[in-house]
Order: sequence, then structure tokens, then C-alpha cells
Amino acid sequence: MDFPEHTTYRRMITKDFLHRRVEQLRPRIENIIDDLLDTMLATEERPVDLVRALALPVPSIVICELLGVPYQDHALFQTRSNVLFSREATAEQAMTCFQELAGYLGELVGKKAAEPGDDLTSRLVTEQLMTGAITPEALVAMLVLLLTAGHETTANMISLSALTLLQHPEQLAKLRADPDKVPTAVEELLRYHTVAASGARRVAVADIEIGGQLVRAGEGVILAYDAANRDGSVFDDPDAFDIDRSDVDQHLAFGYGPHQCIDQQLARAELQIVTRKLFERVPTLRLAGDLAELPFRRDAAVYGLQELPVTW
Ligand code: HEM
Repeated sequence: MDFPEHTTYRRMITKDFLHRRVEQLRPRIENIIDDLLDTMLATEERPVDLVRALALPVPSIVICELLGVPYQDHALFQTRSNVLFSREATAEQAMTCFQELAGYLGELVGKKAAEPGDDLTSRLVTEQLMTGAITPEALVAMLVLLLTAGHETTANMISLSALTLLQHPEQLAKLRADPDKVPTAVEELLRYHTVAASGARRVAVADIEIGGQLVRAGEGVILAYDAANRDGSVFDDPDAFDIDRSDVDQHLAFGYGPHQCIDQQLARAELQIVTRKLFERVPTLRLAGDLAELPFRRDAAVYGLQELPVTW
């Protein structure tokens, strides 16, 4: 979707994801993470799958609370979004899942219209849907995007971040010695993994030369953010994981331009808090099993881990 339609829709939700608004959510995010870590630490079971125990619930609970979606329905939307992001799903399977999610969120819109709450969906219903600024179909499609994008990407980053720090003990030691490094470490983790790596697709609207290559109007372009984030002309020693790198603010893990990730401040807040708390509260955390046998999600549009067995 392009300007002006895209801008109109994006403006409807921008203020909910502004830095100031996200800062107000930090104490609640801290509570969510502490509760999940309490439950994980209380369990006798070993190893624990960090994806189920922490990585998936953190962003799912946060986005549910923001949108006013009941978290107890998480199995419904997590399974559907898994298919939507899978490269192996057929077009029919993806469409069925989209329709099931749209049906579920359409019902939610009806409930919020009857009884608005203090959440983003209610605000969109009362301020945009009821005034005719958005159609019911467009609103539901927007909610599907927010709910799925809101948990898949961050969940994968949480598990990959934990694994990467465990695999780089010298970097983890630096982080432990100086927790003020957490924000930069999170940016480096975002660059290093670039989980939304399947490549954003665009169509050139005018002839343009990029890196000596002419792209003609109407031609398709795939923006490979993962390749860009390992570009040696931008990043020193791009394949090295280094939480002290000074060039990390050049990364494109959240995209670039008008479609840049709308919720990057929230994702950053979640990643910063979880990275700090996990290693503070579970100081002896270690991988349970073989790195070579971990189930990486190579088949999905968002890269990550299906499972991360850990112990302490
Ligand atoms: C670590 C976590 C995340 C990463 C790496 C990530 C990455 C990205 C990237 C690369 C894009 C741009 C795609 C393009 O160029 O077409 C994007 C767009 C978007 N992201 Fe995220 N994202 C993350 C978390 C989130 C969260 C938590 C939400 C919450 C709802 C979210 C919602 C969106 C939406 C709605 C867009 C589309 C924006 C537009 O087209 O105007 N993302 N994200």
C-alpha cells in the first residue's frame, strides 16, 4: 500500500507506538517478564524450552494487552500466524489462516463496539470505524497485521538473543559488567540476526540508479535487509558479533522509509528488559543440548528458533 492510503492508516496508530507511550509501558513489561521468569524458575522440569517459557509469551501478552485481545486465545492466533509466516504453507493454507484470524478479530471489533475498553482496538472502533474513516475490512486487516507482526518477530529475537549471548561468553561478560551496554547490545543483536529477512518487496515507481545498477520504473525489487546488515562497506568486520560496535546505528533490521517498523520502540523495550532480566535472574543459564541440533526456523519468513532448550 502506498501514499496517501498508507499514510492515512499509519497515522491512525502512530501515536500508540511513540517512544513516550512505550516508556509508560515499561513497568508493565517488567512485571510480565518477572512473572514469566518466576514461573520458569519455580519449575522442577529441566531442560526448559525458552521459546515457550519466555520468548513467545512476552510479546504475545504485550500486544494482546495493547490491542485488547484476550491472551487466553493465544493458541488460536499463534498457530495461525505460524502458518502465515511459513514459506512452506500453500496459498490456500495461508488464506484459510488469514480468514480465521480475520473472523476472530472481526468478532472482537463487534465486542469492542458494544463495550469499548481502554485499548487500541476500542479506540480504532470508536474514533475511526464509527466515523467512517476506515472500513470494517481494512480495520480487521490492520489488526491481523498488528497481532501477527507484534509477536512473531520479537519472539524470535528474544530466543536468538539468549542463544547468541550464551554462544559468546566474552560478550555476555562485558554486558554483565556494564548493564548500560544493554541498549547497544540489543541493536547489535537486531543487526546480527535481521529476523525479518525474507526481503521486503517493492515496485520502482521511477527509474533509479542504485550502486551502478539501473532499476526501471515498474520493475520489482527485493530489499534484502539481512544482506544490507552484513555490508562490509558500512560495518567493520560485519560477520562478527560485537556489542561495542560503534556503527550499529546504521542497521536496517526495522526496515527504512515510510514502511519502517511502526512498533520498533516497543520491540526495543521488550528486548532490552528481557535481555537484562534473563541474565540477571538466571545467572547460570546455559544451553541444554547441541547447537547443531537446534531447530532453526529456516522455512519461515521470519527467521528464528522453534525451540531453545536451556537449563541452569
Ligand atoms: C524485533 C522485532 C521486530 C522486527 C525485527 C521488525 C521488523 C520489521 C521490518 C523490517 C519492517 C519493514 C518491512 C518492509 O520494509 O516492508 C516492519 C514493518 C512493520 N512492523 Fe515490525 N518488526 C518487529 C516488531 C514489531 C512489533 C512488536 C510490531 C507490533 C505491532 C510490528 C509491527 C509492524 C508493522 C505494522 C509494520 C508495517 C509498517 C508499514 O508498512 O507502514 N513490528 N517490521
